[in-house]
Amino acid sequence: MSKHHQKVVLVGDGAVGSAYAFAMMQQGLAEELVIVDVIKERTVGDALDLEDALDLEDAQVFTAPKQIYSGDYSDAKDADLVVITAGAPQKPGETRLDLVNKNLKILSSIVQPIVDSGFNGIFLVAANPVDILTYATWKFSGFPKNKVIGSGTSLDSSRLRVALGNKLDLDPRSIEAYILGEHGDTEFAAYDEATVGGVPLKDYAHNKGVTDSDLADIEDKVRNKAYEIINRKGATYYGVATSLMRITRAIFRDENAILPVGASLEGQYGLDDIFIGTPAIINASGLAGVVEIPLSDDEKAKMANSAKTLKQVTKDGLA
Ligand code: NAD
Ligand code: LAC
Repeated sequence: MSKHHQKVVLVGDGAVGSAYAFAMMQQGLAEELVIVDVIKERTVGDALDLEDALDLEDAQVFTAPKQIYSGDYSDAKDADLVVITAGAPQKPGETRLDLVNKNLKILSSIVQPIVDSGFNGIFLVAANPVDILTYATWKFSGFPKNKVIGSGTSLDSSRLRVALGNKLDLDPRSIEAYILGEHGDTEFAAYDEATVGGVPLKDYAHNKGVTDSDLADIEDKVRNKAYEIINRKGATYYGVATSLMRITRAIFRDENAILPVGASLEGQYGLDDIFIGTPAIINASGLAGVVEIPLSDDEKAKMANSAKTLKQVTKDGLA
């Protein structure tokens, strides 16, 4: 049986969107990549630029998208995945939640025409505040919850593993640790269940002379890393593009991978009617299940606080 032709429609060709498109060229996950943005000229230019981003000496070259072009929402008709990176980014001093009204307005102008095209694939949302925009994508689209995935705390969890890897002198890939909750200021590290080579992370860290206070500092730096980058260069994009590509791969290769994402909860962590950062199983059907980490009481309170913040802003934003 020949492999299904995989098609992505990328909405938003700014810093995050174009970094994702470039990553797509490098990894060659989809055969067809359509770029949509209100600035049409930019998408035409980007498609022309990206089609040259082939390493012609690399045997993998023919796995890169064979068609990459500027398009519009009607191109979503037969797409497998729509990735939404359209929206205002934070200016220095702004929080992600400050973007809610502006970006909900933009989102509402995007989701409806995509649904009207006959799109029947999976939405992957990255625009901020991502948990609220993912929830709104589900609401606006009327899609089943498993077909709407947010980038959630995927980037934050990568940041945590990178920081822990540096502190403990370990490969970040050998560290199983998650940031949970809002992709934003109320997020937290689920340290109590994190492991390294099957050993509780805290025990491993203490044996290396890394204290709970050091771990709290790392959590704080991870929570504030986006601000640190935005203050210096105005935006973050390589990290999230890689997180989005990781989720895309899990979908297109039907991996059943457990990844931190923004997932719809139905009773897990005592929460429902919310999209929030948690590990979940990702495969070709989208979100195949939430993996509920058995949190300590202290962490349960942090999750509840994060959810409360998101619910309030969602209620106000969608009112
Ligand atoms: P950017 O300003 O560089 O790009 C945004 C793009 O969206 C622009 O090209 C703009 O023309 C386009 N756009 C605006 N309105 C549109 C509409 N109605 N239809 C189509 N396109 C439209 O911003 P950026 O740095 O790429 O950030 C994009 C979003 O991603 C922001 O909301 C940012 O906060 C978010 N972000 C999320 C994460 C994450 O981890 N989830 C990480 C980084 C950035
Ligand atoms: C991040 C964006 C800004 O880099 O959400 O975390």
